[in-house]
Amino acid sequence: MTQAQEAILLVGGKGTRLRPLTVNTPKPMVPAAGVPFLTHQLARARAAGVEHIVLATSYLAEVFEPYFGDGSSLGLHLEYVTEVEPLGTGGAIRNVASRLRSGPDDPVLVFNGDILTGLDIRALVGTHRSSGAEVSLHLSRVEDPRAFGLVPTDATGRVTAFLEKPQTPEEIVTDQINAGAYVFRRSVIDRIPTGRPVSVERETFPELLSSGAHLQGMVDSTYWLDLGTPQAFVRGSADLVLGRAPSPAVPGRCGDRLVLPTARVAADAKLTGGTVVGEGATVGEGARISGSTLLDGAVVEAGAVITDSLVGAGARVGARTVLTDTVVGDGAVIGADNELRDGVRVWCDAHLPAGAIRFSSDQ
Ligand code: GDD
Ligand code: MG
Repeated sequence: MTQAQEAILLVGGKGTRLRPLTVNTPKPMVPAAGVPFLTHQLARARAAGVEHIVLATSYLAEVFEPYFGDGSSLGLHLEYVTEVEPLGTGGAIRNVASRLRSGPDDPVLVFNGDILTGLDIRALVGTHRSSGAEVSLHLSRVEDPRAFGLVPTDATGRVTAFLEKPQTPEEIVTDQINAGAYVFRRSVIDRIPTGRPVSVERETFPELLSSGAHLQGMVDSTYWLDLGTPQAFVRGSADLVLGRAPSPAVPGRCGDRLVLPTARVAADAKLTGGTVVGEGATVGEGARISGSTLLDGAVVEAGAVITDSLVGAGARVGARTVLTDTVVGDGAVIGADNELRDGVRVWCDAHLPAGAIRFSSDQ
């Protein structure tokens, strides 16, 4: 069986919910398990037989091409198309159509650029071919589907409705959600309107359904995570390091920790739970870091305790400071003896004096 050779990657979103991680860096370029997150998606697509990928860029578009170039180091042919104004997911797909080489009936893969998943890409293409659908969608089951696109299907897997971000309890008709990977019949892409923003979720899919088109869902229970929030991003990075989320692009062996070559870690520091220490980062004596990401050049001083948190590039965490479920923006400095937790976001380059914030009453 021939496989889809082409894919479109949607990487133009602003990543608002991920701030301050996305102040200087677009979401797909924030490092997860030591490399820009997008690298994992590109490597997984390549491993599934995709050779030509068009990146649909918008926000901070200029950083992608200098890093990935023509894609040959990943065995890919990459092209970049930048929107003048953000065109939304459907508009972005339509906007790159001229770069596709597929014929009208050929399958074209489309991926959201912020999904970490073990999806069997070949199986999705196989479902698309055997069902003869116009569009096939990867679906995942989640406990709380409200932040996603709900996709109920009939007994044969045929999609019966598409409800993006349901607002009322009555709209929550299923726990199956759009997992952000599609196979489009090429001619469907060419029929999306040009020159204006289009949401594939709010406009294209509902219109296709009401016109009687065949949309096919493929539900599976593989690893799936939308990396749209700091908590999810940190979790995803740790899961890549631990080997729970599969990627051929993790730069090293999977295990409890990933320490990049130029990092320096004190001999008695404890790194667990999929912690990543980026290039040139340092970890001081007795520090304990679990399930966390330290980006390049971050500094963690002696005795700090960091759990499920992210420390941005060049940021500093003072001695004995405790971070739990916290994001520290690039270049920020947290003085010694602070205690931050519960989703706190410290903005890029902010300075917090020693002993400024505590949750417990002890000194
Ligand atoms: N080029 C371009 N232009 N890309 C865009 C634009 C745009 O104007 N807007 C969004 N994107 C990209 C984002 O970068 C991301 O990779 C993808 O499109 C989806 O956008 P998100 O902003 O992450 O959407 P979401 O997470 O709220 O919802 C989407 O993903 C869910 C699964 O994670 C929807 O597709 C939902 O239906 C789905 O359940
Ligand atoms: Mg998303």
